[in-house]
Amino acid sequence: MKLHVVTFGCQMSAADGGELAAPLLARGFRAAQAPEDADAIVLNTCTVRQHAEDKALSLIGRLRPWKEQDSGRVLIVAGCAAERLGGWIRERFPYVDLVVGAKSIDDYPRLVEEALAAKFDALAESAAAFENIPSALDPAAPIGWSSAVVAPVTIMRGCNYSCSYCIVPSVRGREVYRPYETVLAEARAKAAAGAREILLLGQTVNSWHARGEDGRERRFPELLRAVAAIDGVARVRFESPHPYFFDDALISAISGVAGAGDHVHLPVQSGSDRALTRMRRNYSSASFLSLVERIRAARPSIELSTDIIVGFPSESEDDFSRTLELAERLRPTWTYAFKYSPREGTESAAMSDDVPADVKEERLSRLNALCDRFAEDALKARIGRTVEVLDESGGYGRTRDGLRVKWGSPARPGQLTTVLATGVAKRTLLGESQ
Ligand code: 5AD
Ligand code: SF4
Repeated sequence: MKLHVVTFGCQMSAADGGELAAPLLARGFRAAQAPEDADAIVLNTCTVRQHAEDKALSLIGRLRPWKEQDSGRVLIVAGCAAERLGGWIRERFPYVDLVVGAKSIDDYPRLVEEALAAKFDALAESAAAFENIPSALDPAAPIGWSSAVVAPVTIMRGCNYSCSYCIVPSVRGREVYRPYETVLAEARAKAAAGAREILLLGQTVNSWHARGEDGRERRFPELLRAVAAIDGVARVRFESPHPYFFDDALISAISGVAGAGDHVHLPVQSGSDRALTRMRRNYSSASFLSLVERIRAARPSIELSTDIIVGFPSESEDDFSRTLELAERLRPTWTYAFKYSPREGTESAAMSDDVPADVKEERLSRLNALCDRFAEDALKARIGRTVEVLDESGGYGRTRDGLRVKWGSPARPGQLTTVLATGVAKRTLLGESQ
């Protein structure tokens, strides 16, 4: 029996793909090379913007013939859009075997077992096998969506923030932190299985805190240091920090710990204070830039990337020009820019979505043109220099500061390799192994 997992959305969603696969792998499914070969498909959906949701819904529709060709096939719809639209999905697509939302991920193994049992009428004989389902996918398992070399470790779920545009708090719930020892144990296990880079994940990852077994409270910077100190771990990254929790202790951790903080993704969303207030981001453009200055003073070579929304309700040309100005000052190494998409039930959905579609489109392309230039400049600055690359999968990998690199040489996955950068193509450095 073959399994295929399709993931939409963020890194956390991608990391959940491992957990979504685990009960099926434990039941004997193996990774399918291609979706056509699969006997079971798990769709891990996203709802952050309408477009993301539409892509998942359209795929559920397109899978109908595949599903109906063979009654033994299994279709599971999970994740954030499943949380938001569960009942509607069940009604609209009755051939889906199981719809399970992001908040129910802890119950997921049991729900899968029930759904499979209902399907195959085999609950009794297999129940015992399900007592010890790993909380995350074994990094050594031959599954294509998470490379064993770069291993995600989810350290918290949910979000206590209430950015006015964002659906995440409602589909993922309040923050829940994984215990200090559990996170370290998972990172150690993944390092022992061959991971060289650990990617700590959370919706506002730097708000993580938890009491250790000794009763002492740990905060994120301490966790970061502890993960960086694990044998075999060459790099630690974290996604996504919220500027509000980026305190001096974290700045000092990223400046002082080798392998951590060469690149930080720091979503800003807008450069207009009026928009930032209406978004409820809890910082101004000036305080954001001053944070960036402090980070760069502590770690001058750091590469920063960001997320920006254009066309938030009532965004004027003046507001947008402040976003362009902020981008000029931040000079992000790469940028994810999005057109505002109203999400039902969020605070901003009650505001009029009054920036016309063509204006949103035009602002997006102006912003992208600017940020593409920064991205290209960052890559071109490397040409003629050697960079240290972690080989993720045979001649493809990333530099310490997150730039993608391709080079023509025998694969040595998991190895740190020196590459001479010779050119740039499609946001990737091209190079030669040294
Ligand atoms: N519309 C557009 N972009 C959004 N994001 C989150 N919610 C919305 C929305 N309603 C963007 C933010 C966030 C990223 C993951 O998605 O930039 O950082
Ligand atoms: Fe999408 Fe947000 Fe869910 Fe990630 S947390 S999958 S971005 S809705």
